[in-house]
Amino acid sequence: MKTLLVVLLMALLPALSFADEHGAGLESVDIDVSDKSALQDGARTFVDYCMGCHSAKFQRYERVADDLGISHERMLEKLAPAGAKIGDHMTIGMQPADAKTWFGAAPPDLTLVARVRGTDWLYGYLRSFYEDPTRPWGVNNTVFPGVAMPNVLEGLQGRQRLACKEVQRVEDGGKHTDTPLNHEACDQLIIVPNTGTLTEAQFDEKVKNLVTFLAYSANPDKLQHRRIGTYVLLYLAVLFILAWLLKREFWKDIR
Ligand code: HEC
Repeated sequence: MKTLLVVLLMALLPALSFADEHGAGLESVDIDVSDKSALQDGARTFVDYCMGCHSAKFQRYERVADDLGISHERMLEKLAPAGAKIGDHMTIGMQPADAKTWFGAAPPDLTLVARVRGTDWLYGYLRSFYEDPTRPWGVNNTVFPGVAMPNVLEGLQGRQRLACKEVQRVEDGGKHTDTPLNHEACDQLIIVPNTGTLTEAQFDEKVKNLVTFLAYSANPDKLQHRRIGTYVLLYLAVLFILAWLLKREFWKDIR
């Protein structure tokens, strides 16, 4: 009986570990693509804040609605652009050539970006814009230096600045100036208080949900695989018990 338990546990182990890729120097984020409410919130953010410039052209509204548990009516009414049909791909009107002229770089399609960049990278990137007046949009990014994308989530996050860890503060009649002591340590991202509508924790959650949606989008079959995988394991477990009972039955009279 003990061996049976061990074998069963071993068979179930793969179902318990879903390792995601971790990028070097990036905070790692736990993404659960089976979390429907996170996916729905992420889809909403994607449509509201990203689809002005980025498409997800390998994805259809219908599939997203079905996978995320959103009714077709609600999808068309609340998420898809006016006039879109449920079977349409999630494309946008902006032409890549125009985008290139406006931004200097065309915003890539984001359907598969989570596979290319990894979820840690995306989570880091979207939270790492900071004010930099030398850049065309007034922002730069510690994860993607010299990025051509404006900080579209600034209204939620607030204005973020790069600060130095060790500074020498010089007071001068009410005013003060901070001089960095160690320029290499000037990599601290600090949000200017009360400049965004969300708290830092709420913003992190919003971005995490958005990355969850992108992770799902890059691998929509994963949800289904996981469901099927669970059934297969259950089936195997039942079969194992039956085989074991049968063996016991056979050997009963022989011993
Ligand atoms: C105003 C247009 C605009 C909006 C809105 C926008 N982006 Fe971008 N995005 C760009 C441009 C332009 C680039 C190309 C940047 C470059 O290559 O320097 C880009 C690049 C990216 C990249 C890097 C892709 C890669 O692998 O190189 C990601 C990821 C991304 N955007 C995600 C998002 C997400 C998520 C949103 C919504 C929260 C969003 N973007 C909203 C313009 C936009």
